[in-house]
Order: sequence, then structure tokens, then C-alpha cells
Amino acid sequence: MTDPLCIGPIRLPSAVILAPMSGVTDLPFRRLVRRFGVGMTVCEMAASKAILQNVDEELRKLALDDVGEAPRAVQLAGCEPEALAEAARIVEGLGADLIDINMGCPAKKVTGSQQAGSALMRDLDHATALISATVKAVDVPVTVKMRTGWDDETRNAPELAHRAEGEGAQLVTVHGRTRCQFYTGSADWDFVAGVVDRISIPVVINGDITSVEKAVEAKTRSGAAGVMIGRGAYGRPWFPAQVAAYLADGTILPDPAPAERLAVMRAHWEAMLETHGRIQGLRVARKHVGWYTANLPNSAAFRQTVNNTMDEAVVRDAIARFEETLLATDRFAVAA
Ligand SMILES: Cc1cc2nc3c(=O)[nH]c(=O)nc-3n(C[C@H](O)[C@H](O)[C@H](O)COP(=O)(O)O)c2cc1C
Repeated sequence: MTDPLCIGPIRLPSAVILAPMSGVTDLPFRRLVRRFGVGMTVCEMAASKAILQNVDEELRKLALDDVGEAPRAVQLAGCEPEALAEAARIVEGLGADLIDINMGCPAKKVTGSQQAGSALMRDLDHATALISATVKAVDVPVTVKMRTGWDDETRNAPELAHRAEGEGAQLVTVHGRTRCQFYTGSADWDFVAGVVDRISIPVVINGDITSVEKAVEAKTRSGAAGVMIGRGAYGRPWFPAQVAAYLADGTILPDPAPAERLAVMRAHWEAMLETHGRIQGLRVARKHVGWYTANLPNSAAFRQTVNNTMDEAVVRDAIARFEETLLATDRFAVAA
């Protein structure tokens, strides 16, 4: 039985968090994952400078008016203490309940000229100044998401976590890879035990948690207070709830039946069109449809249709026909 996860005054209903993923964890996906059950979802990363320069557009992405999302956790990226602090103040004013600082993004456009994301793990004094400025700027809890370090020679997550705690951060998440690994190799859950030993605030383990067994193993080996799930939820918005139920009291929630899985995909697809509009919605939806159907028989032809039309009626019809065909075949039951 896992204790509930507390972030300062915020008590989460479970110790499972959906990872922030740009281009994936938009409002429809977060809502869906919450509907199944999860401790917390986090918005896609928002650039602090963009918030200051074009408040409306960047803030719409955060969907802070979604009252169902509690706590409303916003992740900010930035490399200038004043700009990060000001962006944090703005999002707090608009209803954010928690602010996470991105110190883990490996993308060159973030770590390059901007020196943000995981580049901050190469300059801990600067990273500390950013955390300090953000904590001072807002009343809501501030958390930090990091990797194990920049590369194998400098795995300094325990030191950065220690400094973050010293500046008043309330939780640290560690993706068990270095920046130079990007997404190669495997997450080092054992290394994160060194972060847990170093600080008193909760640590959340992240990286390669794709099954209930792996969630238990990652949590046990790191000693973390909670787990964060990213790619493991691709096409499986119910997966974080399965982990949460098992960690809570050993309950094993079965995968949804095939008919329900396709119903979830259909509802998700409609929600993406409603949120993003037809053109953007059809594009965003393609990758999700691909994940939902990856291992299903005859799905390649179905995806071909979905990926090559900008006509929503064609997609709706293709989904309906795919569903009918699959539910009529025995092979579907085997594949599911
Ligand atoms: C498509 C994609 C987008 C991501 N965007 C973000 C982001 O906006 N902020 C962030 O902190 N991490 C981001 N990440 C990293 C994830 O939050 C997570 O740390 C990483 O995927 C490892 O966890 P996993 O193995 O469970 O996926 C992203 C990862 C992916 C695959």
C-alpha cells in the first residue's frame, strides 16, 4: 500500500502522475486520463518568454479554465530568472495550483541558444537561481523535473535536487536518463535512489514505466514516493489508473474490452477535433489513432485512410467500419 503523495499543501488522490509531453498531453488527453483515474496531470511545457510576449496564445495551450483539472499543474521552461518568475506569477494569477520547472528537456532548440531544459544541469548555480526566483514569485508549490545529469560523467541530479529543496521546491521528478542519452538505453531507476537519500521532499521516478510490474520495480528500486508515466500511456489512457489502483491496494484492473477501447478512441478523436478545430485536430489525432490501433489486425489500411485525408467525415466513417470489422472477427479477441 502506497501513501498518498503530498506536494506542499496539495494531497494527490494517488501517487501516479501523467508526464508532461509536448504535442501529446493536451487538454483532451489529460481529461481522458483523469476520467480513468490518476493523481495529477501536467500541462505541456510552456516557454516563459512566450507567455510574456504572447500571453493569449501560449495560455490557451495551458487551458487553465478547465475547472476539472485539480490541481492545475503548469510546466514552465526558461533560462532567465526574472522572466521565469514573471511567467509563474501570471499563470498563478490565472489559476495554476502548482508550477513545475523543466530542467529535463533534451531538445537542441531548448538546450541550445536558450540554455534551458536539461542544459541547466550543466550550470547548477544558474539552475538554483531560477528555482529561487520562481519560488519567491508565487505562493503555490514549485516543483522541478530533471534528468540524472547532462552526461555519464556528470550525473548531478542528487546535488540539483538538494539545491532545489534548499530554495523551497516541494517535489522533484527524475527521469532516469542523462540528457546525452535522449531516449536511448534504459532509465536507471537505481541511480534515483541517491536522489531520494539526499532530500526530504518527495521524489517521483520517471522513465520506461510501461507496465504495472515496472511501476512497482521502479518505485521499489528508487525508493521514490510516486511514479510518473509518459509514453506508457500512449494509446492506453487507462494505464495510469491501473498503476494507481495496484499501488493503492493491490487491485488489478483489467484492460478495457475491445469494444470499450475503440469507444475510448472514438470519443478521444471527437474531443481533439472539438478542442483544436478540424485542421489541427485531424493532424493531432493521427498519432493517437496510430497508438490505439498499433497491434490490431487490419489496422494498417485503416491508419492509411486516417493519415491521408483532411475530411473528418471520411475518418468518422473509417472508424465506424474498422470497429464493425474488428468486432466481427475472432482474430480481434486474440489480438486484444
Ligand atoms: C513526445 C514527448 C514530449 C515530451 N514533452 C515534455 C515536456 O513538455 N516537458 C517535460 O518535462 N518532459 C517532456 N517529455 C519527457 C517526458 O515527460 C518523460 O520524462 C519521458 O518521456 C520519460 O518517461 P517515459 O519513459 O514514461 O515516457 C516528453 C517526452 C515525449 C516522448
